Amino acid sequence: MTRDFLLLALGLFLASCGEDRPVLVKNELRSTWGIIQEDIFAARCVGCHTTGTSFAEQSALVLTADVAYSQLVGQAPANEVVKAEGLMRVSDQGQLPGLLRSYLWEKVNAPDQEHFFGDHPYYGALMPLGGQPLSNGELAFLRAWIEAGAPETGAVADPALLVDESYYERPEFKPLPKPENGIQFHLGPFDVQPNFERELFSMVALDNDEELFVERFEISMQSGSHHFLLYSFQDETPAERMPAPNEIRDLRDEQGVYVFDTVRTMLYHQPIVGSQWPFFDFNFPAGVAMRLPKGMRFDLNSHYINRTDEPTVGEAYLNLHYADPAEVQHEAKIFGLSNFDIALPAGKVTTLSEQYRFPERMHIIQLMSHAHEHMTEFRVELMGGDRDGEVVYIAYDWEHPPILELDPPLVVEPGQGFKVEATYDNWTDRELNFGFLSEDEMMILYGFFYTD
Ligand code: HEC
Repeated sequence: MTRDFLLLALGLFLASCGEDRPVLVKNELRSTWGIIQEDIFAARCVGCHTTGTSFAEQSALVLTADVAYSQLVGQAPANEVVKAEGLMRVSDQGQLPGLLRSYLWEKVNAPDQEHFFGDHPYYGALMPLGGQPLSNGELAFLRAWIEAGAPETGAVADPALLVDESYYERPEFKPLPKPENGIQFHLGPFDVQPNFERELFSMVALDNDEELFVERFEISMQSGSHHFLLYSFQDETPAERMPAPNEIRDLRDEQGVYVFDTVRTMLYHQPIVGSQWPFFDFNFPAGVAMRLPKGMRFDLNSHYINRTDEPTVGEAYLNLHYADPAEVQHEAKIFGLSNFDIALPAGKVTTLSEQYRFPERMHIIQLMSHAHEHMTEFRVELMGGDRDGEVVYIAYDWEHPPILELDPPLVVEPGQGFKVEATYDNWTDRELNFGFLSEDEMMILYGFFYTD
């Protein structure tokens, strides 16, 4: 339907198009592959995917004209998980099966990014990495080529498709509907100054006089968010450190100086759930839920980064959906394995490694890494047992680390654990250490689990 509309719009556009635009619908002599190479890859991909760059090494993919075709078509991806799923970089099967078996298509198909990030936590980043996505016309052209079996010669896609230079735009931020059985929290809207990182907290008191169980979390955030996190307070939190309800507490003042009181309450935080994604919907497996004791208090935490010269607006919704207590068999808990011992020398790439062993059997339901902008890889391996050394989590994108749901849960036996390895590229001229700003670094693996 959208596609038909696109083609129609395109026809109209072409009809009104003068001589000045070199749209060589009839006179195009190049093959479809030739156009992809020269007009798309050369402009948007080759900068990184060139022999000798760290990007080419990381992806084992070179897209310069001499080798691009032989590196793509009928070749297995470097990404091990994708390879194990049987995808090719570009499949020559053609038609829809060919498209669906082509990892390249997944990597560039920005309009389908909710699916890409939501369902394929191991697929890495969208391409071009960190750049504007391909235009809708370029995507339609690539798609037609793959559907035609990705031939090296011949014209199989209409070059007129490339006239469409529109880009996918993210759907607008929407409030979440209130849960039927549960509660909704709403933070903001609040301003984020130009060229500023605003991170704030707000305490909300649930005032529940019975314990409750949560089976599902939903989060929706206005764009520009670095993260949204929900914390509770440790039992030992002194009464005088408990913030007043519903007030906004900034982490830093407008000059960028830390607000001491806010930092101090962070010491009593216990994370519950978090997302770095604009939309997040998490369900525990059947029979598993998180217990909220009586008189529950939460701290809502939102972090926005505004790198523009105009003020922007931050806003977030969080829904907690309650479970029927009679149906809860296991209580879900959260762990946060944090390495505070971070020293990253200036101008160097450094890999930090930490090992964590669990004293009891853990059924792990979800994993998510947290690091800041210098992180280039965050990898978690199992330690001990038959699967020793198996990579169970990997992230390349600090801003959008995969939230990996494990269904069935990953069972880690007593004495076994995780080896967590994070690689950072410290391009600055100063040493980086643990800290709360995106210029500082973190190395945390969060997970939900339950025990027997
Ligand atoms: C800024 C650098 C950069 C740009 C630009 C870039 N890439 Fe990548 N690409 C990477 C990195 C790094 C990886 C490995 C991490 C990942 O898969 O997310 C990668 C991985 C890939 C992979 C997966 C390779 C494999 O076998 O696992 C494909 C396919 C790919 N890129 C295609 C493209 C295309 C097509 C473009 C242009 C539209 C592009 N890339 C632009 C850096 C880049």
